[in-house]
Amino acid sequence: MSKLILIYASLTGNTEEMSELITSGIEEAGGTVTVKMVDECHADILNDYEGIILGAYTWGDGELPDEFLDFYDDLEELSLNGKKAAVFGSGDTVYEQFGKAVDLLHEKLSERGAEMVLEPLKLELNPSGDERELCRAFGKNFVGSTVGV
Ligand SMILES: Cc1cc2nc3c(=O)[nH]c(=O)nc-3n(C[C@H](O)[C@H](O)[C@H](O)COP(=O)(O)O)c2cc1C
Repeated sequence: MSKLILIYASLTGNTEEMSELITSGIEEAGGTVTVKMVDECHADILNDYEGIILGAYTWGDGELPDEFLDFYDDLEELSLNGKKAAVFGSGDTVYEQFGKAVDLLHEKLSERGAEMVLEPLKLELNPSGDERELCRAFGKNFVGSTVGV
């Protein structure tokens, strides 16, 4: 079984709720995942895992959360070749740059060599109704795409 890690930032709990649902999906698919908040880890922790999921809300004018900045910069020093990855996060469509932090993370992981195995999952505020199932499916599909890594 591949070693998976999910690292996220959440200020008001929406991205955290997505993380919990994604984790449930991973577990329903028979996987296990280490879950951490971004401010409790250094980017080089990714060296220990084959599957990487990053989640962030968007801040400012389409920016990463402040607590993601060091981690994001440190990704520059890593090679993620051979790893599978996916990204998610909550945003708000009243802002012009909806969920832009999710795109920034997607681009950076891809640039560092990770294979992005799922489309980014962006939700408006907290996951509701069918969106909760979308989050669980994201977790299940991630496990499916990392089998055999
Ligand atoms: C000052 C401020 C700036 C924000 N800027 C954006 C933005 O540019 N794009 C976006 O999609 N959401 C933006 N948001 C909305 C948050 O990303 C949204 O509320 C999100 O659900 C917060 O997630 P969290 O509960 O995980 O912290 C902003 C919110 C605040 C308070």
